[in-house]
Parts: sequence; structure tokens; C-alpha cells
Amino acid sequence: MSTNRARTDSAPEYRWPEKVPGLAYGGDYNPEQWPQQTRLEDIELMTEAGVNLVSVGIFSWAMLEPRQGEYDWGWLDETLDRLAEAGIYAALATATASPPPWLTHQHPEILPQTAEGVTLWPGARQAYSVSNPVFRDYAVGMTRAMAERYADHPALALWHVDNEIGCHNSHDFSDDAAAAFRRWLESRYGTVENLNAAWGTAFWSQRYSSFEEILPPRTAPMFVNPTQKLDFYRYSSDELLSYFRDMKAVLREVTPDVPVTTNFMCTTRSKNMDYFDWADDMDVIATDHYTIADDPQRHIELAFSADLTRGVARGKPWMLMEHSTSGVNWQPRNHTKPPEEMLRDSLGHVARGADAVMFFQWRQSKAGAEKYHSAMVPHGGRDTDVYRTTVRLGDALKQLEPVKGTEVTAEVAVLFDYEAWWGAELDSHPNNDYSYPEEVLRWYRGLWNLGVTTDVVHPSDDLSGYRSIIVPGLYLTDDATAERIAEAASRGASVLVTYFSGIVDEYDNVRLGGYPGAFRQLLGIRTEEFWPVQPNERITLDDGSTADFWSEKITVTDSGSGAAEVVRRFATLQRVDDPAAAAATTAPTGIFTLAGLPAVTRNTVGEGAGWYVGTRPDDDAVKSILTEVLTEAGVAPEHEDAPEGIEVVRRRSETESFLFVFNHTGNDAKLKVKGHELLSDSKIKGKLNVPAGGIAVVQET
Ligand code: GLA
Repeated sequence: MSTNRARTDSAPEYRWPEKVPGLAYGGDYNPEQWPQQTRLEDIELMTEAGVNLVSVGIFSWAMLEPRQGEYDWGWLDETLDRLAEAGIYAALATATASPPPWLTHQHPEILPQTAEGVTLWPGARQAYSVSNPVFRDYAVGMTRAMAERYADHPALALWHVDNEIGCHNSHDFSDDAAAAFRRWLESRYGTVENLNAAWGTAFWSQRYSSFEEILPPRTAPMFVNPTQKLDFYRYSSDELLSYFRDMKAVLREVTPDVPVTTNFMCTTRSKNMDYFDWADDMDVIATDHYTIADDPQRHIELAFSADLTRGVARGKPWMLMEHSTSGVNWQPRNHTKPPEEMLRDSLGHVARGADAVMFFQWRQSKAGAEKYHSAMVPHGGRDTDVYRTTVRLGDALKQLEPVKGTEVTAEVAVLFDYEAWWGAELDSHPNNDYSYPEEVLRWYRGLWNLGVTTDVVHPSDDLSGYRSIIVPGLYLTDDATAERIAEAASRGASVLVTYFSGIVDEYDNVRLGGYPGAFRQLLGIRTEEFWPVQPNERITLDDGSTADFWSEKITVTDSGSGAAEVVRRFATLQRVDDPAAAAATTAPTGIFTLAGLPAVTRNTVGEGAGWYVGTRPDDDAVKSILTEVLTEAGVAPEHEDAPEGIEVVRRRSETESFLFVFNHTGNDAKLKVKGHELLSDSKIKGKLNVPAGGIAVVQET
């Protein structure tokens, strides 16, 4: 039985909110926080800025149903009427993202609990357990009330279910969740014997004699059974999705023609929902993205998140449902975005497939926990850089209308798998500082620095079109995935696998006989033992490049086409906090047992190859390894003479091609490009000049 989540071959029907003309532009709109006069000004400013879509009603339950069964629709009727008159559409929410106080007062049993048994009380938002039947009934009831009220409203373009489902309450350990977890386990395993086998319960006297005995992985005296935790991650993602499905069913029944979505968090920071698995339930994929202030390469993380979203969307255009015009309020020191950075961030998403650019939020709140979060209209009002940039962005998006519906194509794929993420970061591993997204980003960054356009896809997606496939840290790998990756190599792809991949099966049971069990054949190697590297140690490889964090004892084997080649070898291990030891270029004991042994290998497989990296190389070494892999695979950068720091991406249709250029450097850049620059509406004469920090979008001829 293969129980990994595999994507179905056929994509579901894709439904864009067609009512919205051009590229969608706007943000969360919370008029209930403002007096009438401000609401009137909102419409005027939205019109000036070219806003055509706003998300309304996300946190409005208590304002719409102030007492059980008593509705106050007046303000929302008026808001939607005004928006419709101004030609602005609504992504209307189900209003369920924050239950009203009367509901939790009457039914405290709807509150979720942490692993320690702490109740998460009302007072913030999302204080509900999706496994509680009372809450589900009320949420579905509110959704029906909204749907019936606004089914025929001309402003309604899209349904926005709840909000960032699972953002704060993804892992609920309450008794209701325990019951739901047991039902989920019973349907996955059928018998408790199967579960005992999969969970390895012979260990530490954990054998169950019935499903009734099983609990969520609540805080225990020591490490909880890892497969129990892994299944709890899977269950939690499924349980939240079933909550979405309940609401979608109502919306489909009442308004069959209105597309339905919810805002995902496709980023390197949101681990708990398996969005590849959720995607087929959405009519259109929407995501939220926020950059992190203390990441100097946040534009690369943004590019990765956008490519991940496009992967989740199976390559179709998607909606950026939220990002920020400037600082947020939830980081230790929030970063104020200069106008050019805001434009680069917004259009950076468009370059990678977004046909909607939305923000949290339209008008900056004057009260509440998010009053210092930026918005399209800041506290300072109209006469501010932020609002002027809001208007500039609206103009830019009008100029970019021709890109709507076009798609990005890539010859390289990075595989990304939420289950591998969950597995890799379970407790009690050889190196417990391991971060799956960091490992993925390291390799993605290398590709970005080389100017190569990359898809980020699920291992069960169609891999046949890629010349090269990068497989960072795919710790948990089922047999079908291992076969698909090996097949892609046999057909001609250069596949690169990094350390701590293919170690366990889908039950987190180790694949025996030497690591990496799932990929030994593909890579022509066998690892006997992992050698995690201490934080104060650095490795040098035989080409002089450095690595850290991980090493392992690799032997090359012959998997049928001759022995795998050794591309780089371990050379030295140094203590970096001890100059004397560093000078001696040896480990503290003077001996580096792995010196001279393989660190990076290459195995010929059919028409292609399987490369392996058994350590964590620094950024330059990543680039140099990738250069070898991509050269072999015949992959070229998106633009042949773009200097480093100049980001180039193309969106194409059958007949047209749009080249997006972002200058992330402090110097002006010149590029050979022919065509019409859309933002300035001018024909390119000679070379295209992209000023420091600037953007160009060229309709190529
Ligand atoms: C999330 C939420 C919004 C808002 C922003 C703040 O994306 O969906 O309601 O809280 O974060 O960054």
C-alpha cells in the first residue's frame, strides 16, 4: 500500500474570477472598522488607484451576526452596492475566520487545545477547533447565510473561504481532535495490527490493542512515536481540508457559477498544510506572502514562494491574495519597504505567474493588534509615499494587462514535498538543526543566482519535461516516488539528490541495507554512517570549496553502468572557533576519517545521470556543482548576458513572450532585448536599461 499523497494526473477545472477585468488588484477591505465618511473616501481612492477586487467580510462574523440568529447585513449590503457601482468586485469571505464572542461563550467546547492541554481562548482570532461538530455546524450555517444573502449580488466575483485556514490552529490536541484522529487512522490502516506495524510500536512498549487507546501526540515525558507524529501532521492537514470542503459544498450548491478558493500560505515558513494535496479542491489557487526583514536575500525567498505557488497551481495563473505595501507588525523589527521594493515584490509575483496582486489590507487600522501593519492607504492618508506607490502599482498593472493568462515554462524542477518536510524535522535525528526549507532554498538560490528559471513541483507531478531535477533533502520517499525520479534520469534528466534523502519510507521506517535506501541504485552509492558536523566545524572539499553541517561515509558502487564517478572528495575538517586548530587544517583530534572519501558523486543512468551531494556546500560550491549538472543537461540561463543580481523571468503564450527584468543591484544594468517595454510604454532602442532597483517588462519581438 502506497499511502503518500500523489497528485491525480488530471487537473480539475480551473476557474478564474472572470468578472474581474485585467489583472486583479486590491486588498482586504474591512469597512466595518470605519465611519461612513471614510468608507466614501475608500471608494474614491480605490477608483483612483485602479483597484478592481477587494476581499470583504473575512473577520466580520460578530458584526454580521451580533447575537445568535440575528443578522445585521446593512453595512455589508451598502458596501457591496457601493463597490458594484464603482465597478469594483468582491472576493466575499464566509466570515468564519474568527467566531463571535457569543458563540464561544455559549460553547466553550469549540476552543482548540495545544499539545500541553492548554486551551486557546478567544480574544485574538481563529480560536476554534475544526473537529468540533458544534463549531462546524455554526460555520457552515454562517457560510450558507452569506451565500444566500449575496448569491445574486453583482459585486460577487469569488468566494474566499475562512482565512489562511490552519494559520494559528492547525494542530489541535483536544478530545474532539483525538476522536477525529482515531477515525482518520482507522480509515488509513483498517486494523490496529497494521497501525502497530507501521508505527513500530514494538519499541518502548507502545503496542495498541484498539484504536480507542490512541491519542494525538500530546506532550509526553520523552520523544513521542515519530510515525504517530507524522500521521498527526497528515491527519491535521486532511481535517482542515475537510472543513474547507464543508463550506465549499454549501457555496457550490447556492452559487454554482461563482469560483471558490481560500488563501494558502505557500512559503518556506508554513509547514502544516499540504497545499499540493489541497490544490485540486480550489477553483483557483490563491496565496499570501510576506518577506522577512532580516533576510537580505528575501527577494529570492519571494521568487521561491511564487514558483512554489505556481507549482501548486499546476502552472496556471494564480492569485497573490495578500502581501504588504511596507512593514508588517509581527516580526521582531519590521522592515519599511522603499517604494521600489514594494513594486519589485508585487511584480516579482506577477513575473512568476500571479494574475492578481492583493494586499493585507486596503486601509491601515487605527485600533487592534494590526494597527502597525502597513496597508495600501496608511495612517498618513493620501499624501504619503505608500499611497502614491499604491497608485503607481495600479497604473503598472494596467500596462501589464497583456500578460494576463500567459504562463512560465522551466526546464529545471526542484521537488518539494510537505510530507518529506514533516518527516525530516521529526525529533531525535542525526542532526537536529536540519531545516527542510533551508535545504531546498539553498539549491533554489543556486539556480536563481545562475539565472535559471525553475519550477517547484511535487514528486508525483509530471516530471517528463525537465532536463534537470533537483531533489533536496527528500528524507521520506515512497517506492513510487523513488521509481519516478529514477525513470526521469533514465530518460535523460540530470537528477541531483542531496544528503538525508530517501532514508525512510512513508511510515518513517528506515530503508535498510545502507543509505540512501530509496536512491542507492539511481546514485550508485552506499552510505554506511552519517557524520553530522558540529556548528563550529567546517569541511573543505578537494577543490578548495567549503561545506558544513553534514558529512557521511560514502562508497561508490556499480549499479550497472560502471562505478559512479567521484566529483568532489572530503579533504579537511577544521574548528572555526579555534585558529590554532584551523591552521592545522585538521579536526580537533588531528584526524578526519572521511578525508579522501567521496563527497559529491555522479552516476550514469540510462540517458541521464544521478548526482549526489553528501554534505552541505556553501553558496559558491552549490553554484559550481549546479553549473556542472546544468551544463551536462543543456540548461541555459533565461537570459545569456544578465549579470548576477539581475532577475529575468519569462511569461509566454503560444504567440507572445514577456520578459520581466528586476534589478536587485545598486548599479544600472543593460541587457540585449528586443521589443516594447510595457511599464514605460516605449520601444527599446539599443540595449534595455534597467536602473538600480528598477523593473522592466518587455513584450518581445
Ligand atoms: C495574514 C492574515 C491577515 C493579516 C496578515 C498580516 O496573512 O491573513 O489577516 O493578519 O497576515 O500580515
